Amino acid sequence: MKSVKKEKIENFTAFVPLSSRTKEEVQKLLDKNRMPTHVALIMDGNGRWAKQRGFSRIFGHKNAVKAVREAIEGCVEMGVKYLTLYTFSTENWQRPEDEINGLMQLLVSTLRSEVKELSEKGVKLGAIGELQSLPTKCQNQLKESITKTAHNDRLVLTLALSYSGRTEMKTAIQKIAQRVEKGEINPSQIDEELIAKHLYTASIPDPELLIRTSGEMRISNFLLWQLAYSELAFLDVLWPDFRKIHLFETLLNYQNRERRFGKTSEQI
Ligand code: IPE
Ligand code: IPE
Ligand code: MG
Repeated sequence: MKSVKKEKIENFTAFVPLSSRTKEEVQKLLDKNRMPTHVALIMDGNGRWAKQRGFSRIFGHKNAVKAVREAIEGCVEMGVKYLTLYTFSTENWQRPEDEINGLMQLLVSTLRSEVKELSEKGVKLGAIGELQSLPTKCQNQLKESITKTAHNDRLVLTLALSYSGRTEMKTAIQKIAQRVEKGEINPSQIDEELIAKHLYTASIPDPELLIRTSGEMRISNFLLWQLAYSELAFLDVLWPDFRKIHLFETLLNYQNRERRFGKTSEQI
């Protein structure tokens, strides 16, 4: 009788356990040719980080800026082409007024202080969401920073602001319906490609990898259409503690996964 071949044990885990390896050790294990093109990130845990230290939630948000810098630099170093950061959801408008005001002020001051460095790193800034709901100051600063970095092409950094995946889809459906009404397209011409073209992310490929920090395992209305086949990675790190090592460990975990897209292992 033929001996039964030992089944390959899948190295799959949505939860990314962090090893004691150094950043340099992990970096050496990474295959630069198999990087995701687009990484989406749910930056969660600022409030808990501050609470653990006996500070107000806004202190946590202020301490999150370093983590954002690390994520951007890490993506640039690894050749990731698109990074999308969930920065403020439409649901977040329900938070206490002083927290919302603090977050909006922080957005303006950070955009202002970081734009030069972003440009030096080759970052092209963009934003998706219900941007018209943001305070005028934020909208203006955002426009200015987007214009100042428009010539860059190393990393497309997209901030999801006042963002809701369902609103994005609803808006796309409305736009398509209007085009049908005008007779520009037939309902039979509505396919996945056409829908994708009407989303905020029309010019951005779907993320291969979604990372969420803080141990929460949910999508929270982020990129609902675009995440259809993304690899999900959950990290037990609060966002202000996020560093390049966490990104690199997650990229390594991603590279050890098998993306089957409905096929069998043998077909790949
Ligand atoms: C994420 O951190 C930042 C935003 C949602 C703006 P949180 O503020 O949600 O932090 P936790 O989840 O309460 O710890
Ligand atoms: C998701 O975090 C939104 C952002 C990170 C901007 P939340 O902390 O608002 O998510 P829920 O409500 O706990 O799911
Ligand atoms: Mg949260």
